[in-house]
Amino acid sequence: MLRPIKHLRSIRAKRFLSTCESYFPDEPKAPILKTSTIPGPKSEQLNNELGEIFDNRATYFVSDYYNSKGNYISDADGNYLLDVYAQISSIALGYNNPELIKTAKSDEMTNALINRPALACFPSTDYATILNEGILSAAPKGMNKVWTALSGSDANETAYKAAFMYHHTKRRNGDFSAEELESVMNNELPGASDMVILSFDKGFHGRLFGSLSTTRSKAIHKLDIPAFNWPKAPFPSLKYPLNEFEAENRQEEDKCLQEFESIIKSYNGKVAAMIIEPVQSEGGDNHATPYFFQQLRKITQDNDVLMIVDEVQTGVGASGKLWAHEHFDLPSPPDMVTFSKKFQAAGFYFSNPELQPNQPYRQFNTWCGDPSKALIAKTIYQEVVKHDLVNKTASIGNYLFSNLKSLAEKYPILNLRGENFGTFIAWDCKDANERGKLLLSLRNKGINIGGCGDYSIRLRPPLVFEQKHADIFLSALEDALKEL
Ligand SMILES: Cc1ncc(COP(=O)(O)O)c(C=O)c1O
Repeated sequence: MLRPIKHLRSIRAKRFLSTCESYFPDEPKAPILKTSTIPGPKSEQLNNELGEIFDNRATYFVSDYYNSKGNYISDADGNYLLDVYAQISSIALGYNNPELIKTAKSDEMTNALINRPALACFPSTDYATILNEGILSAAPKGMNKVWTALSGSDANETAYKAAFMYHHTKRRNGDFSAEELESVMNNELPGASDMVILSFDKGFHGRLFGSLSTTRSKAIHKLDIPAFNWPKAPFPSLKYPLNEFEAENRQEEDKCLQEFESIIKSYNGKVAAMIIEPVQSEGGDNHATPYFFQQLRKITQDNDVLMIVDEVQTGVGASGKLWAHEHFDLPSPPDMVTFSKKFQAAGFYFSNPELQPNQPYRQFNTWCGDPSKALIAKTIYQEVVKHDLVNKTASIGNYLFSNLKSLAEKYPILNLRGENFGTFIAWDCKDANERGKLLLSLRNKGINIGGCGDYSIRLRPPLVFEQKHADIFLSALEDALKEL
């Protein structure tokens, strides 16, 4: 029997709804600009009030999260901006995602929010299930355990602590000595450690005390703060496009690898771990090739140095793989992988049970994570899988990249990078001044976008960024470039 045509149409219409359309049927079709500049007057007024009680000097504009939708962030003046910065790369499924709202309104969430547990002492009846069905289902290959933390910096610092305790426990071969127990109370050897964490020039790993010592992106982050005297290795400075400079880039990477190995040797077994981002993000979206990462892994294994991959910014799909280090085909999985941002929950993955300290309370704080955030992470992961958002991000990234490449033939889009790396794309401007102009001009055209490094611009849209959004962005970018 023939179906009525009307019914058929509605079936077809449903079948062709994109993920974004199915989540956000009333997402704006384009940026909506109500004020001639952003921030507008209401945003300015609210920000001034805020400034009386809270350091507001980094504010771009005051946001209205009640009305933000999908890829669009709304502000206090009723403007809607297409958001390709997404809370410094931390919104995975778009603003006010209906599935996250459902999770937020669930009984489990109420319970997690109003009875926040001290997880290590009084874990909830459902914490193992929440982890297994969410954060651990998303674990990188070769990892089956997790330690949950409170922020990206905390994720890294707990990984550092795990590394130090792992090495000392192995070397100690028994219980703590009386001398260790006494000296550590004076912050002295041998109870305190003289081992180090090796990080890379221009790397960013957070701003708490321990993580800040491994952060090397900008002086302003570090000034006036006491720091551990830990080493840093050079990170390759590659020439783009990568396929045109293979020989030079290989030479540059080999030079960095040699230096990396020689630093490790010069520390005579005292490098507990190295930490590296798959793409140095805050430091300017600096890439290295899979070869570089494969060699690093070999060197760390040969020298008994743990490898920590910091996926705080690169993780959860933006690179076109769930975890960016999957692009590298490493000879064996890293020892620890840290996460936060797009997962909302933070922590580190691992598999070696010896990375769990030999006694309880050594890796510990009051909350040790947050079940409410673990519930959000679970929904994020399940939605990512259900809608195939990682592969979709890979293909929209290719679309964006090829269009940016065409624009780069006409305009000053320098060192375009992130090819075949999802929407994790960036380029350089001529200098910081030109970058500032471009970012501001884009904002006034309804695009919220961010920089990184000294003169780069990075794209960090959510995983529900689609071709129609890319077209709006590319057209606004071309207009802004014409006006430079
Ligand atoms: C790679 C990386 N690691 C660590 C951090 C620190 O995370 P948080 O700001 O949540 O402490 C960041 C933050 O931008 C980051 O990009």
